[in-house]
Amino acid sequence: MNQVKLAEGVYYVGAVDWNLRDFHGYTTPRGVTYNSYLIVDEKVCLIDAVKAPFADELIERIARIIAPARIDYVVTNHIEPDHSSALPAVMAKAPNAKVILTGQGKDGIIKYYGKQYDFQVVKEGDALDLGRNKLHFMPLPMLHWPDSMASYLDGEQILFSNDAFGQHICTTHRFDDENDISAILYEAAKYYANILMPFNRLIGKALDKTSSLPVKMIAPSHGVVWRSHIDKIVSKYRQWGKGASERKVVVAYDSMWGATEKMARRILDGVAAAGIPARLYRMSAADRSEVVWDILEAKGVLVGSPTLNNGMLPTMGALLVYLKGLRPANKVAAAFGAYGWGGGAQKDMEDLLRAGGFSVDEGIAVKWTANAEELEQCFQFGLAFGKKMLAQE
Ligand code: FEO
Repeated sequence: MNQVKLAEGVYYVGAVDWNLRDFHGYTTPRGVTYNSYLIVDEKVCLIDAVKAPFADELIERIARIIAPARIDYVVTNHIEPDHSSALPAVMAKAPNAKVILTGQGKDGIIKYYGKQYDFQVVKEGDALDLGRNKLHFMPLPMLHWPDSMASYLDGEQILFSNDAFGQHICTTHRFDDENDISAILYEAAKYYANILMPFNRLIGKALDKTSSLPVKMIAPSHGVVWRSHIDKIVSKYRQWGKGASERKVVVAYDSMWGATEKMARRILDGVAAAGIPARLYRMSAADRSEVVWDILEAKGVLVGSPTLNNGMLPTMGALLVYLKGLRPANKVAAAFGAYGWGGGAQKDMEDLLRAGGFSVDEGIAVKWTANAEELEQCFQFGLAFGKKMLAQE
């Protein structure tokens, strides 16, 4: 990668992992970057490390700018190993550096790496004088882990936001305006849905904390640096944080012998007849992370499974357990499916939907496979659900 300068004395020194396709269960068809930034002021400061296999690459990038031994501070905004597992390698090259982090961060680094570095624990309002700039620390607990924080470089007005505002996308260009912005925004939404959605209620507070600051760039720990579309991504975060969504419906289902599929397609027709955009995903073929991206901005979710062994198909279980953890806000859902004798899938799906915070409407079930009359009932079920979306705020 060619050298990338964000501002006077501020450089990108991170790593681009073009070939990673799975980030703890979240599909990353465009790869992942682990962003680190080097500030060369009167003091030298590294913001975050990278994932361990890329430690040599990070150190080599730093060495092209300044001898790594000259690093005075390593700010660890977040201890998750994608940002900290190269820290031991960095510290071996910069043994005099202080490691700046939150109290939770310190505990985590000691536990992960068994090292007692020269730690400096920071809290809200603390700042580090680098010379021309001061670096201000803003703990953002649970965005993404309890240790997480952001750092703000006041002279150059750069917010190093760590996981917040990230996207999993590799390109040869490091700024938003040098890339296809629709692809960047799609990946930012997918990232939010799959990583940050459980922490919705914290997003507004975090944005309030940073909104009073003049910000020329937001430099996250994944993906591109925001400099031309800051207002757009901040307003998207406000929208997602509130759980505000659109009048659209996601229909996610799986099928054994086609009966539940037949229901799903007819239900989809009903939703569409109400004038509501809808998308259909068969979970044995669909990418769960993409379905969750679609659910992020959808008011309505319909899930379908036939009954297998008194429960739902494992593909639907995987989606619903994942959604239960992500806890999407302000969404209406219902379950449908075919059964042979006792049933069970519908109740299991409804239980998981409720546990995930969905408001659950009455669903629809069909014995063996839907006849013409039952298919009409499926259509009417979809139509009523679609009309309900029209009535939602
Ligand atoms: Fe990119 Fe929570 O680590």
